[in-house]
Amino acid sequence: MGFASWPLAGVPTVSAAPTPSIERTLGPKLPILMRFAILTGGSKGLGLALCETLAERGYRVLEFSRNAPHAHSVQIDLSSTRDSHRIAGAAIASLGGDNVEELLAINNAGTLDPIGPASRKEPAAILANLNTNFTSAILVLAEIVTHFQATACRKVLADNSSGAALKGYAGWSLYCAAKAGMENYIRALALEQQREPHPFIPVNVDPGVIDTEMQALIRSSLASDFPEIERFIKRKEQGALVQPVKVAAAVCRILELPALSFGARYEVSDHGA
Ligand SMILES: NC(=O)c1ccc[n+]([C@@H]2O[C@H](COP(=O)([O-])OP(=O)(O)OC[C@H]3O[C@@H](n4cnc5c(N)ncnc54)[C@H](OP(=O)(O)O)[C@@H]3O)[C@@H](O)[C@H]2O)c1
Repeated sequence: MGFASWPLAGVPTVSAAPTPSIERTLGPKLPILMRFAILTGGSKGLGLALCETLAERGYRVLEFSRNAPHAHSVQIDLSSTRDSHRIAGAAIASLGGDNVEELLAINNAGTLDPIGPASRKEPAAILANLNTNFTSAILVLAEIVTHFQATACRKVLADNSSGAALKGYAGWSLYCAAKAGMENYIRALALEQQREPHPFIPVNVDPGVIDTEMQALIRSSLASDFPEIERFIKRKEQGALVQPVKVAAAVCRILELPALSFGARYEVSDHGA
């Protein structure tokens, strides 16, 4: 996988298991300074490419997902706010902060499921979507902010957003609502952080259209649930989807910009993807 080697002793935990100590998950706290990245949804798609790209750039990476495929993964189901709060909270709380010279926190996990009008969906499916895309995202980011607020280093907190945060799509109302909510959460957080002695720099990043399972799910949906399906099928046929590794490199370039602006929205298409 090409991840930077560091003491990784742990196996991903299951949601029902006791929360792991960071020594088990990431290895013992290290005395040397390190660049550290925490992201959700690093098991596939853009998140997987981000894990690999960040490791190549010298970051040590902790990721949260259901499949949790990496040695540095913590298994979590973000559709359950109880689990996400308990598991992510305990994993983050056990991290050392003294030896961090740079921190990136990326809210990347996301889901379009269930596609179609919310009025036709089960309440449990509606809650699972909103928990994954919105409520758990905020719970995890809040744990990261709490734990590292006093850490005096460059700290960037990024939300992988979407064009769906700015525009409505028929059939994606839950996703659109959550993405728009996250964008404004980031803008408000940016105002709060500017009052802190050691602030995070919160930003939104639009990753464009990426060749991932999320796009495959769109193409497999029903026109009755998602009227724009043909446009998305054509995009794939025309080779208009960008490969995750190219998008991940652009996201990293954005997050490493020396003059990153609090609360700003960045597009990967302006940064080489
Ligand atoms: N693909 C696009 O064209 C596109 C466009 C605009 C924005 N985006 C955004 O970019 C981000 C990455 O999208 P992608 O295309 O890479 O999606 P993807 O291939 O479907 O991957 C989604 C990631 O989110 C994780 N995830 C989903 N539900 C989860 C849950 N309940 N609990 C924990 N983790 C969960 C998945 O991990 P597990 O399955 O292992 O849990 C996976 O790692 C998302 O925020 C998406 O909204 C994508």
